[in-house]
Amino acid sequence: MKSFDNKVAVVTGAASGMGRYLAVLLARVGCNVAICDINGEELGKTATMLSQYNIATSTHLVDIADPLQIDRLHEEVMARHQAVDLVFNNAGITVMSDFENMPPADWDRVMNINLAGVVNMTRKFLPDLKSRPEAALINTSSIFGMVAVPGQSVYHAAKFAVRGFTESLAREMDGTNLRVHCVHPGHIGTNIASSAKEVVGSTASDMPAFIREMPVFMRKMSSEERGKMFKENGMHPSRAAKIILDGVQRSRARIFVGLDAKLMELTQRFFPQSYMRTWPFILLPVFVLNKFLKKPLPGLPSEL
Ligand SMILES: NC(=O)c1ccc[n+]([C@@H]2O[C@H](COP(=O)([O-])OP(=O)(O)OC[C@H]3O[C@@H](n4cnc5c(N)ncnc54)[C@H](O)[C@@H]3O)[C@@H](O)[C@H]2O)c1
Repeated sequence: MKSFDNKVAVVTGAASGMGRYLAVLLARVGCNVAICDINGEELGKTATMLSQYNIATSTHLVDIADPLQIDRLHEEVMARHQAVDLVFNNAGITVMSDFENMPPADWDRVMNINLAGVVNMTRKFLPDLKSRPEAALINTSSIFGMVAVPGQSVYHAAKFAVRGFTESLAREMDGTNLRVHCVHPGHIGTNIASSAKEVVGSTASDMPAFIREMPVFMRKMSSEERGKMFKENGMHPSRAAKIILDGVQRSRARIFVGLDAKLMELTQRFFPQSYMRTWPFILLPVFVLNKFLKKPLPGLPSEL
């Protein structure tokens, strides 16, 4: 897609992180935006931010895990904007838990948001997208849709599936006006870690493997401190949003966000059995590099 000017975009998960900055960057270049999220209060703040731009906006309180709410969202968006050119399936959560300790309800919740939400949104909006002269569907997977770590089985199950679903659909849409993109972010400094539930086992020391394998000083932190550290040390979400939009404009099927994502993808090609062991070497320089990428894009506040 060459230009976003005068198009209509639907962005899920627009109350925080990459979704919020996607909405703002789209608005800055003249794209009309329908923002949705389950968090009404924070979504309202995104809406206020968008109000300074001369575009049509709409705000939708939606639990993306509920297909009936997606039906309602679709009706509201079509009534307000009459057409949709871009859908960003961005909303997502994680739960930190070893598989054996994970309550089935937590498993289902992550799958219903991160996978079923993406599929149901796609099903609902696909006919509208296909009816446009040029259109884009942008599904957010993760670098964790390509490599796997312990203690994140449900997140991987969903994100690997989003990638498979998206790449297959992309082939089905070859030759049409619709480009289908899969986004693979690395470490982006957002609220996703602080919002994540942590499930410990039968004893308090039985922490999820994802945390057990962290350096000692991080293991000793409270989950709030770890969430804060995650947010403060990743690439700024405004930069991530810019990379995603550039990828859409360049028709990239796979959009990697961050050097860590690109390097981690390479390690699984060259070391399919042992890629995790290579990460301390490659991720340390990225951690240092992120110090320069922690700042928002020029002209944007670090927190909206
Ligand atoms: N931050 C990272 O390092 C990272 C890395 C790889 C992939 N991702 C993916 O990027 C996407 C955006 O995440 P983020 O990092 O900006 O996180 P974030 O927590 O800052 O934002 C996610 C948004 O999704 C919303 N949301 C959650 N459940 C919802 C539901 N049921 N219905 C509607 N909205 C819901 C939240 O309220 C929040 O506003 C997610 O799909 C995430 O899995 C993030």
